[in-house]
Amino acid sequence: MISLIDVHKSYGNVQVLKGVSLDVAQGQVVCLIGPSGSGKSTLLRCINALEHHDSGDILIEGAQVDFRSPDICAVRSKVGMVFQRFNLFPHRTVLENVIEGPLYVKGIARAQAIDEAMVLLDKVGMAHKRDAYAPQLSGGQQQRVAIARALAMNPKAILFDEPTSALDPELVGDVLAVMRQLADEGMTMIVVTHEMGFAREVADQVCFLQDGRIVETGSPQTVLVNPQHPRTRDFLSRVLKH
Ligand SMILES: Nc1ncnc2c1ncn2[C@@H]1O[C@H](COP(=O)(O)OP(=O)(O)OP(=O)(O)O)[C@@H](O)[C@H]1O
Ligand SMILES: [Mg+2]
Repeated sequence: MISLIDVHKSYGNVQVLKGVSLDVAQGQVVCLIGPSGSGKSTLLRCINALEHHDSGDILIEGAQVDFRSPDICAVRSKVGMVFQRFNLFPHRTVLENVIEGPLYVKGIARAQAIDEAMVLLDKVGMAHKRDAYAPQLSGGQQQRVAIARALAMNPKAILFDEPTSALDPELVGDVLAVMRQLADEGMTMIVVTHEMGFAREVADQVCFLQDGRIVETGSPQTVLVNPQHPRTRDFLSRVLKH
Protein backbone atom coordinates (compact mmCIF):
# COMPACT_ATOMS: atom_id res chain seq x y z
CA MET A 1 0.00 0.00 0.00
CA ILE A 2 2.83 2.40 0.92
CA SER A 3 6.38 1.97 -0.36
CA LEU A 4 9.38 4.13 0.33
CA ILE A 5 12.53 3.47 -1.66
CA ASP A 6 15.75 5.18 -0.66
CA VAL A 7 14.07 8.45 0.34
CA HIS A 8 16.34 11.41 1.02
CA LYS A 9 15.39 14.80 2.41
CA SER A 10 17.49 17.78 3.48
CA TYR A 11 16.64 21.16 4.93
CA GLY A 12 19.38 23.42 3.57
CA ASN A 13 22.57 21.54 4.26
CA VAL A 14 21.07 19.46 7.07
CA GLN A 15 20.39 15.93 5.89
CA VAL A 16 17.31 14.72 7.72
CA LEU A 17 16.41 11.51 5.82
CA LYS A 18 19.40 9.60 4.54
CA GLY A 19 17.94 6.82 2.45
CA VAL A 20 14.82 5.42 4.08
CA SER A 21 13.15 2.34 2.58
CA LEU A 22 9.96 0.91 4.02
CA ASP A 23 7.06 -1.24 2.83
CA VAL A 24 3.68 -1.14 4.49
CA ALA A 25 1.16 -3.72 3.32
CA GLN A 26 -2.57 -3.14 3.36
CA GLY A 27 -3.96 -3.53 6.87
CA GLN A 28 -0.55 -3.38 8.52
CA VAL A 29 0.26 -1.22 11.51
CA VAL A 30 3.82 0.09 11.53
CA CYS A 31 5.09 1.86 14.63
CA LEU A 32 7.96 4.25 14.11
CA ILE A 33 10.13 4.95 17.13
CA GLY A 34 13.32 6.90 17.56
CA PRO A 35 14.94 9.83 19.34
CA SER A 36 13.93 13.46 18.94
CA GLY A 37 15.25 14.90 15.69
CA SER A 38 15.73 11.51 14.03
CA GLY A 39 13.34 12.46 11.21
CA LYS A 40 10.10 10.70 12.20
CA SER A 41 7.78 13.67 11.56
CA THR A 42 9.65 14.56 8.39
CA LEU A 43 9.13 11.03 7.10
CA LEU A 44 5.36 11.17 7.71
CA ARG A 45 5.17 14.64 6.16
CA CYS A 46 6.93 13.39 3.02
CA ILE A 47 4.53 10.44 2.71
CA ASN A 48 1.58 12.85 2.88
CA ALA A 49 3.27 15.34 0.52
CA LEU A 50 3.28 18.06 3.16
CA GLU A 51 7.01 18.13 2.44
CA HIS A 52 8.79 17.40 -0.78
CA HIS A 53 11.43 14.67 -0.64
CA ASP A 54 14.64 15.33 -2.57
CA SER A 55 15.23 11.89 -4.05
CA GLY A 56 14.02 8.32 -3.92
CA ASP A 57 10.47 7.16 -4.46
CA ILE A 58 7.35 7.26 -2.35
CA LEU A 59 4.50 5.20 -3.75
CA ILE A 60 0.94 4.95 -2.50
CA GLU A 61 -0.93 2.10 -4.13
CA GLY A 62 1.67 2.31 -6.87
CA ALA A 63 1.16 6.06 -7.52
CA GLN A 64 4.14 8.37 -7.05
CA VAL A 65 3.90 11.01 -4.35
CA ASP A 66 5.28 13.91 -6.32
CA PHE A 67 4.53 17.60 -5.81
CA ARG A 68 4.66 18.27 -9.52
CA SER A 69 2.24 15.53 -10.46
CA PRO A 70 -1.18 16.78 -11.61
CA ASP A 71 -2.96 14.17 -9.49
CA ILE A 72 -1.07 14.85 -6.27
CA CYS A 73 -4.36 15.85 -4.56
CA ALA A 74 -5.89 12.47 -5.36
CA VAL A 75 -2.80 10.65 -4.07
CA ARG A 76 -2.66 12.80 -0.95
CA SER A 77 -6.34 12.25 -0.16
CA LYS A 78 -5.70 8.52 0.16
CA VAL A 79 -3.66 9.15 3.28
CA GLY A 80 -5.06 10.84 6.37
CA MET A 81 -2.92 12.47 9.01
CA VAL A 82 -3.43 12.93 12.73
CA PHE A 83 -1.07 15.33 14.47
CA GLN A 84 0.21 15.66 18.00
CA ARG A 85 -1.73 18.89 18.47
CA PHE A 86 -5.10 17.96 16.95
CA ASN A 87 -5.24 21.02 14.62
CA LEU A 88 -9.03 21.33 14.78
CA PHE A 89 -10.59 24.60 13.66
CA PRO A 90 -11.27 26.35 17.00
CA HIS A 91 -14.14 28.50 15.75
CA ARG A 92 -16.09 25.54 14.30
CA THR A 93 -18.09 22.89 16.10
CA VAL A 94 -17.04 19.28 16.32
CA LEU A 95 -19.49 18.32 13.58
CA GLU A 96 -18.38 21.18 11.34
CA ASN A 97 -14.76 20.11 11.75
CA VAL A 98 -15.59 16.61 10.58
CA ILE A 99 -17.76 17.56 7.58
CA GLU A 100 -15.41 20.29 6.30
CA GLY A 101 -13.30 17.95 4.13
CA PRO A 102 -16.18 15.87 2.73
CA LEU A 103 -18.13 19.06 1.86
CA TYR A 104 -15.43 21.23 0.38
CA VAL A 105 -12.80 18.78 -0.84
CA LYS A 106 -14.96 15.83 -1.86
CA GLY A 107 -18.09 17.78 -2.78
CA ILE A 108 -20.43 15.48 -0.85
CA ALA A 109 -23.96 16.79 -0.14
CA ARG A 110 -24.36 18.33 3.32
CA ALA A 111 -27.03 15.91 4.60
CA GLN A 112 -24.98 12.89 3.59
CA ALA A 113 -21.79 14.39 5.04
CA ILE A 114 -23.59 14.94 8.36
CA ASP A 115 -24.96 11.38 8.43
CA GLU A 116 -21.51 9.94 7.76
CA ALA A 117 -19.85 12.27 10.27
CA MET A 118 -22.28 11.22 13.01
CA VAL A 119 -21.44 7.55 12.42
CA LEU A 120 -17.74 8.38 12.80
CA LEU A 121 -18.27 10.58 15.86
CA ASP A 122 -20.22 7.75 17.41
CA LYS A 123 -17.37 5.37 16.65
CA VAL A 124 -14.85 7.56 18.50
CA GLY A 125 -17.29 8.20 21.35
CA MET A 126 -17.82 11.88 20.56
CA ALA A 127 -21.33 12.04 19.06
CA HIS A 128 -22.66 13.73 22.20
CA LYS A 129 -20.28 16.65 21.63
CA ARG A 130 -21.29 17.38 18.04
CA ASP A 131 -22.15 21.01 18.80
CA ALA A 132 -19.22 21.78 21.11
CA TYR A 133 -16.31 23.92 19.96
CA ALA A 134 -12.82 22.43 19.99
CA PRO A 135 -11.51 24.60 22.86
CA GLN A 136 -14.34 23.31 25.06
CA LEU A 137 -13.04 19.75 24.77
CA SER A 138 -10.25 17.92 26.57
CA GLY A 139 -7.14 17.08 24.59
CA GLY A 140 -8.17 13.43 24.38
CA GLN A 141 -11.61 14.40 23.09
CA GLN A 142 -10.10 16.74 20.52
CA GLN A 143 -7.78 14.01 19.36
CA ARG A 144 -10.68 11.59 18.92
CA VAL A 145 -12.51 14.23 16.85
CA ALA A 146 -9.32 14.67 14.81
CA ILE A 147 -9.34 10.92 14.13
CA ALA A 148 -13.01 11.11 13.04
CA ARG A 149 -12.08 14.03 10.79
CA ALA A 150 -9.31 12.01 9.16
CA LEU A 151 -11.66 9.03 8.70
CA ALA A 152 -14.31 11.26 7.11
CA MET A 153 -12.11 11.55 4.03
CA ASN A 154 -12.31 7.78 3.69
CA PRO A 155 -8.53 7.31 3.54
CA LYS A 156 -6.75 4.10 2.62
CA ALA A 157 -4.19 4.71 5.36
CA ILE A 158 -3.70 7.04 8.31
CA LEU A 159 -0.43 8.48 9.58
CA PHE A 160 -0.30 9.38 13.26
CA ASP A 161 2.41 11.70 14.56
CA GLU A 162 2.69 11.20 18.33
CA PRO A 163 -1.10 11.33 18.73
CA THR A 164 -1.03 10.93 22.51
CA SER A 165 2.15 12.69 23.58
CA ALA A 166 0.45 16.05 24.25
CA LEU A 167 -2.24 14.43 26.41
CA ASP A 168 -2.58 14.12 30.16
CA PRO A 169 -1.88 10.50 31.10
CA GLU A 170 -5.49 9.72 32.01
CA LEU A 171 -6.66 10.73 28.52
CA VAL A 172 -4.19 8.59 26.58
CA GLY A 173 -6.12 5.33 26.99
CA ASP A 174 -9.27 6.51 25.19
CA VAL A 175 -7.30 7.64 22.16
CA LEU A 176 -5.24 4.45 22.03
CA ALA A 177 -8.46 2.43 22.29
CA VAL A 178 -9.83 4.17 19.19
CA MET A 179 -6.57 3.53 17.33
CA ARG A 180 -6.57 -0.10 18.41
CA GLN A 181 -10.12 -0.48 17.09
CA LEU A 182 -9.09 1.01 13.74
CA ALA A 183 -6.18 -1.43 13.58
CA ASP A 184 -8.52 -4.34 14.35
CA GLU A 185 -10.80 -3.20 11.53
CA GLY A 186 -7.88 -3.43 9.12
CA MET A 187 -6.89 0.21 8.67
CA THR A 188 -3.34 0.63 7.37
CA MET A 189 -1.50 2.83 9.84
CA ILE A 190 1.94 4.32 10.41
CA VAL A 191 2.19 5.51 13.99
CA VAL A 192 5.00 7.57 15.47
CA THR A 193 4.71 6.88 19.17
CA HIS A 194 6.49 6.52 22.47
CA GLU A 195 3.71 4.25 23.74
CA MET A 196 5.71 1.05 23.83
CA GLY A 197 2.80 -0.98 25.20
CA PHE A 198 0.68 0.01 22.21
CA ALA A 199 3.53 -0.75 19.81
CA ARG A 200 4.09 -4.14 21.37
CA GLU A 201 0.43 -5.15 21.22
CA VAL A 202 -0.81 -3.54 18.02
CA ALA A 203 2.13 -3.17 15.63
CA ASP A 204 2.85 -5.70 12.92
CA GLN A 205 6.19 -4.05 12.37
CA VAL A 206 8.31 -1.68 14.47
CA CYS A 207 10.94 0.55 12.87
CA PHE A 208 13.65 2.26 14.85
CA LEU A 209 14.78 5.44 13.14
CA GLN A 210 17.95 7.21 14.14
CA ASP A 211 19.77 10.03 12.45
CA GLY A 212 17.65 9.75 9.30
CA ARG A 213 18.09 6.02 8.83
CA ILE A 214 16.09 2.96 9.77
CA VAL A 215 18.55 1.20 12.03
CA GLU A 216 16.40 -1.79 12.85
CA THR A 217 13.02 -3.09 11.77
CA GLY A 218 11.02 -6.21 12.54
CA SER A 219 8.28 -7.62 14.70
CA PRO A 220 7.61 -5.87 18.02
CA GLN A 221 8.97 -8.95 19.73
CA THR A 222 12.29 -8.61 17.90
CA VAL A 223 12.75 -4.85 17.98
CA LEU A 224 11.28 -4.02 21.39
CA VAL A 225 11.98 -7.13 23.41
CA ASN A 226 15.09 -8.54 21.84
CA PRO A 227 16.72 -5.74 19.79
CA GLN A 228 19.74 -6.75 17.78
CA HIS A 229 21.28 -3.34 17.27
CA PRO A 230 23.14 -1.62 20.13
CA ARG A 231 21.60 1.75 19.17
CA THR A 232 18.09 0.32 19.50
CA ARG A 233 19.00 -1.23 22.84
CA ASP A 234 20.44 2.06 24.05
CA PHE A 235 17.34 4.03 22.95
CA LEU A 236 14.93 1.57 24.53
CA SER A 237 16.81 1.48 27.81
CA ARG A 238 16.49 5.28 28.00
CA VAL A 239 12.80 5.36 26.98
CA LEU A 240 11.75 2.54 29.27
CA LYS A 241 13.43 4.15 32.27
CA HIS A 242 10.84 6.96 32.25
N1 LIG B 1 10.97 22.95 8.37
C1 LIG B 1 12.20 22.64 8.79
N2 LIG B 1 13.26 23.43 8.47
C2 LIG B 1 14.50 23.10 8.87
N3 LIG B 1 14.80 22.02 9.60
C3 LIG B 1 13.81 21.22 9.96
C4 LIG B 1 12.45 21.47 9.57
N4 LIG B 1 11.67 20.49 10.07
C5 LIG B 1 12.50 19.66 10.73
N5 LIG B 1 13.78 20.08 10.66
C6 LIG B 1 14.95 19.39 11.23
O1 LIG B 1 14.93 18.06 10.78
C7 LIG B 1 15.34 17.17 11.80
C8 LIG B 1 14.29 16.10 11.99
O2 LIG B 1 13.11 16.69 12.49
P1 LIG B 1 11.79 15.86 12.74
O3 LIG B 1 10.77 16.84 13.20
O4 LIG B 1 11.47 15.05 11.56
O5 LIG B 1 12.25 14.90 13.93
P2 LIG B 1 11.39 13.95 14.86
O6 LIG B 1 12.05 12.61 14.82
O7 LIG B 1 9.97 14.02 14.48
O8 LIG B 1 11.62 14.59 16.31
P3 LIG B 1 10.61 14.70 17.57
O9 LIG B 1 10.64 13.34 18.24
O10 LIG B 1 11.24 15.74 18.44
O11 LIG B 1 9.26 15.08 17.06
C9 LIG B 1 15.61 18.03 13.03
O12 LIG B 1 16.99 18.25 13.11
C10 LIG B 1 14.88 19.30 12.74
O13 LIG B 1 15.51 20.39 13.35
MG1 LIG C 1 8.24 14.67 15.44
